[in-house]
Amino acid sequence: MEKKRRFALIGTGNRGTTMWGTDLLAGWAEHVEMVAIVDRNRLRAERARAMIGAEAPIYTELDPMLQAVRPDLVIVCTPDDSHDDIVVRSLESGADVITEKPMTTTVDKIRRIIEAEKRTGRRVDVSFNYRYAPTAARIKTLLDAGEIGRVTSVDFHWYLDTSHGADYFRRWHAYAKHSGSLFVHKATHHFDLLNWYLGSDPQAVTAFADLKMYGRKGPFRGSRCRHCAHMKECDFYFDLEADPFLGALYEEPSKLDGYFRDGCVFREDIDIPDTMVAAIRYGNGVHVSYSLNTFQPIEGHHIAFNGTGGRIELRQYESQPWEVPAQDTILVVRNFQKGAQAVERIAVPHASGGHYGGDDRMRNMIFKPGMSDPLAQRAGSRAGAVSVLCGIAALSSARAGTTVRLAELMPELLGEQLL
Ligand SMILES: NC(=O)c1ccc[n+]([C@@H]2O[C@H](COP(=O)([O-])OP(=O)(O)OC[C@H]3O[C@@H](n4cnc5c(N)ncnc54)[C@H](O)[C@@H]3O)[C@@H](O)[C@H]2O)c1
Repeated sequence: MEKKRRFALIGTGNRGTTMWGTDLLAGWAEHVEMVAIVDRNRLRAERARAMIGAEAPIYTELDPMLQAVRPDLVIVCTPDDSHDDIVVRSLESGADVITEKPMTTTVDKIRRIIEAEKRTGRRVDVSFNYRYAPTAARIKTLLDAGEIGRVTSVDFHWYLDTSHGADYFRRWHAYAKHSGSLFVHKATHHFDLLNWYLGSDPQAVTAFADLKMYGRKGPFRGSRCRHCAHMKECDFYFDLEADPFLGALYEEPSKLDGYFRDGCVFREDIDIPDTMVAAIRYGNGVHVSYSLNTFQPIEGHHIAFNGTGGRIELRQYESQPWEVPAQDTILVVRNFQKGAQAVERIAVPHASGGHYGGDDRMRNMIFKPGMSDPLAQRAGSRAGAVSVLCGIAALSSARAGTTVRLAELMPELLGEQLL
């Protein structure tokens, strides 16, 4: 009989409690057993444990848990800048690790993780669930089959709406020291998708980024939405109590650590951009034009692969003020063809579960024994590192007004790449 993997959950915010708590135990309990919960905030951990319906002991520090429980696997769901320390100490205790994205936030932290993984011989998985969405898998299959010849360039534009986009400006994500900026925190998903789709590493990045809506650009400000004097006039007013799940997990526990879930999006000290573009050149010569916007009336993305034989195009709808079918349509348009033959429309129904079924498929890949991986969807520390490095390069390019070559940031990972 298969031995269950004994895992410890670190960080019981929304992501830890749902994806790696309730949902993991609901669907994969024959493969895993939760043996400990760690969160600095004991009250949030207690709330999370009740929501998950687990009986695992709660710790507020990592090391005593590692020593007492000796889990086989540690799942890291804390803020991004704390991942490295937890990953390294867990590997050193003999556990494998799954870390939420981004793997980490700085070059030194990437080095620490990769060095510890090599030294301990344990494994780090990075939670790149977007690779597993059925539409992404279909696009990868089309590209690998050479349906549009050799890819020469990619147009990739990601839109966050005034709800989800604003959410990154309410709390720790809004500070580069905690999230690496959205070029790292959010775009790690997008850069990873590009790296995986193209089967190549980014070489050089030129980026621009500005703050145009949130932070000091706002018309007025408070500290948090609850009791704010501007709640009636503010379009970004967020009523935490209207969501019983978030209210229970964050409001009362905030009394222990002052971590408010509804921080003002117009706080003066917000230091990350909300509007970003990047031009990226890949090792295989592909050019990418990328953008990320955070206060749109729509949510979703547009991606187009331009090849020597045609073009693959997708507009994925996640939220918009009009009805769309519960499916994606991939357009494959071929050069020098006419009429119906020129375009193939491939419908991919949305799968249930988070990230259009990506979350479930990723958990299957990681936890079900004997899974094959023909599309190389399972992502480890190298994938985590390269996508973070691309974001670090983009932020540094935008700040310095220069082109940044990734090999200069981390030659040991990317080697000598010449343009
Ligand atoms: N893959 C995805 O699609 C996806 C989606 C959402 C979030 N995430 C990632 O999941 C992680 C968590 O996100 P969240 O929204 O749940 O964050 P959160 O801020 O809501 O929760 C983080 C929790 O970690 C605890 N914590 C902080 N530092 C700690 C430490 N050193 N040791 C133990 N506990 C600590 C906090 O008290 C809090 O309860 C982030 O890295 C985020 O990028 C990934």
